Amino acid sequence: MANSTHIVGDAAIERAAHEEDVLVGHEIVRHKLSSRVIHWLVALAFVVSLLTGFPIWTPIFGWMAALFGGLSVCRWLHAWAGVVFFVFSLVMFVAWIGDMRFEKGEGKWFGPKMIQYFRYQNDDPDVGKYNGGQKIYFFLVAILALLLFASGFVLWFPAYFSLELRQWSVVVHDATFILFVASIVVHIYLGTAAEPGTFKSMTRGTVSKPWARLHHPRWYREVTGDRDRPN
Ligand code: HEM
Repeated sequence: MANSTHIVGDAAIERAAHEEDVLVGHEIVRHKLSSRVIHWLVALAFVVSLLTGFPIWTPIFGWMAALFGGLSVCRWLHAWAGVVFFVFSLVMFVAWIGDMRFEKGEGKWFGPKMIQYFRYQNDDPDVGKYNGGQKIYFFLVAILALLLFASGFVLWFPAYFSLELRQWSVVVHDATFILFVASIVVHIYLGTAAEPGTFKSMTRGTVSKPWARLHHPRWYREVTGDRDRPN
């Protein structure tokens, strides 16, 4: 029995290399390899940008510069990591936009549904591959990445821009990054501790059938062909 589970498990990993939204044994492939790689590249570039940005931002975090070999290294590394972050975010945006289109009724995620979700009171049987909150987060990431890139570009080449634009860019860059960090803390919490089984979808690529039935019931029905109403 242990052996057959093992074989089905390996089959899931093989399918997850190229395909997603498919049932393999007791698992469902949620994110194919290319989706996972681009997600982690975005995350890595974000972390490097963040850590190199802190000592530039305020002397309070000046000690962090030593992690990268000093403040002057942080200055150029931060700018280039930011460019890499923006480019990877763009690739992720293009790769995932197809699954992120808002559907009828999902406007309520900007208000009551979001509150219900955080109270674990959301039992909507029509949630597809991504819920409305995830779609909002996806577009928020895209908008914030664009704002960070545009304001960062002005700050990187100050000689080409007016004083007023540079001052606005400082405000936009700092406000955007603070909002970004806050939203990513929530994102990491939801993707790990709050919903067990979710993190595996971004490492191994797969989720269990009960996970899919609980969090994304319509997607579960579409992938498995199981018409039963989720329990
Ligand atoms: C570093 C820790 C991170 C962890 C543990 C993490 C975890 C995850 C997981 C598990 C998913 C899949 C959710 C699902 O399939 O339902 C996901 C999706 C996603 N991640 Fe991350 N992520 C991290 C960092 C980031 C960063 C830095 C960004 C962007 C700057 C990001 C942007 C996204 C987006 C846009 C999605 C799709 C929408 C969503 O599911 O919320 N993630 N992440």
